Amino acid sequence: MAGESTSSGVAAYYDKAAAKVPEFTVLNYGFSSEPENSRVPAGHAEFYCLRLYEHTVRDVDLAGRDVLEVSCGRGGGAGFLFRTFAPRSYTGIDVSGENIRMARRHSDGPRFEVGDAEKLGFDAGTFDVAVNIEASHLYADRRAFFAEVFRVLRPGGDFCYTDGCWADDDCSDDLRAAGFVIEERLEITDNVIRSLELDNERKEKLFDGLGDPELVREYKDWGGIVGFRAWRRFVERETLYFSHRLRRP
Ligand SMILES: C[S@@+](CC[C@H](N)C(=O)[O-])C[C@H]1O[C@@H](n2cnc3c(N)ncnc32)[C@H](O)[C@@H]1O
Repeated sequence: MAGESTSSGVAAYYDKAAAKVPEFTVLNYGFSSEPENSRVPAGHAEFYCLRLYEHTVRDVDLAGRDVLEVSCGRGGGAGFLFRTFAPRSYTGIDVSGENIRMARRHSDGPRFEVGDAEKLGFDAGTFDVAVNIEASHLYADRRAFFAEVFRVLRPGGDFCYTDGCWADDDCSDDLRAAGFVIEERLEITDNVIRSLELDNERKEKLFDGLGDPELVREYKDWGGIVGFRAWRRFVERETLYFSHRLRRP
């Protein structure tokens, strides 16, 4: 999660991060449960971040279906879902040109394009499944995004949607207003905190390697490092993390 709000500001933030910390192919806080029960390869460097992808699509069949990921970041998650669940097609879009450039390098199979979550450049009814992970808090207009996802899904399509939010910001009414049926809404804050703690050493080492103290502080704050801002907000329940399984009727 980052602290910007216009789409050009967000794109610039992520374009810069691509140069500063290119080691990450997945850019979320992750998910961990006990036991892990996972298809992510044990020992994978980005195990917990990929676990969040796996959790987000739980119980939704991707096999043989056309999948759109809005805000695919650097494409590591897209590559994992593509390899593991065999969709017919997988399209990832992101507002950051640098993220899309990295995604094309990292992941064979999915197609990646620069695009805006609030103005999806696809015809109505193009996809069977939409995936969105830890990005909607960055959009200027969440309702426009929900309306766009609803438009590009086919009837019967699934929307797998995961993000953190302020504790008093329940997006359920906006989702229903866009036309979605909420099949499941789970609060997973504890799973996210557990992931942040288990994955802390790897991320902190990369941030510490940046040198510039201001940048190190900024990335630790937004990157969920234990003791820093984003981690503290989850622990103090100022922000919560939810995952949704939604259906376009
Ligand atoms: C925290 S990252 C998560 C990326 C990816 N889902 C993952 O888990 O690795 C948030 C992503 O949202 C993208 N983003 C922010 N605003 C956007 C917008 N309006 N349209 C498309 N992508 C956007 C950013 O460029 C960034 O790649």
